[in-house]
Amino acid sequence: MSDVEHLRSLLKAHPDFPKKGIVFLDIFPILRDPVAFETLITHFVYRLTSHTIPNSPSKKVDVVVGLDARGFLFGPIIALRLGAAFVPVRKRGKLPGECVTATYEKEYGSDSFEMQADAIQPGQNVIVIDDLIATGGSAKAAGELVTKRGGKVLEYLFVIELTFLKGAQQLNAPVYSMVKAD
Ligand code: ADE
Repeated sequence: MSDVEHLRSLLKAHPDFPKKGIVFLDIFPILRDPVAFETLITHFVYRLTSHTIPNSPSKKVDVVVGLDARGFLFGPIIALRLGAAFVPVRKRGKLPGECVTATYEKEYGSDSFEMQADAIQPGQNVIVIDDLIATGGSAKAAGELVTKRGGKVLEYLFVIELTFLKGAQQLNAPVYSMVKAD
């Protein structure tokens, strides 16, 4: 079994959570297994640093942006390994100081994300990371925040992509997802 197949086998599907009709894919079994967690982090870091992987960004990453909340589990570790900054994108009202804001649609109504205005400098190369891409609305909003501060999104990274929701089509930079679920 390949490393990615093994990581995929650890994802646990919870039918009808948090409501009927949704099959929730739980990433936490990976974090409970230190060898699996290390494999996952190494997989992403290798992708971002190897010059031999087709379509890998192959530029120095200055900033890793993690999305509230499960992007915070992976983003800081990957940033440390890359020698890059980690910057959180949070739900509105959680971050102190001057912030930039972007609104996105959710299943019911809309929500807003914020990022501290001085967190990204013009011209910096940025990776946006989250655990899962569904419709892509939240990742798109995070990309808008990066662009507002003059940063360039090199790639969006996800552990899981729900391909049937076509979220990757919403995004203005390449998308890499380790596991595709349909
Ligand atoms: N977020 C949105 N859809 C999800 C799903 N099916 N599993 C886990 N997290 C999600």
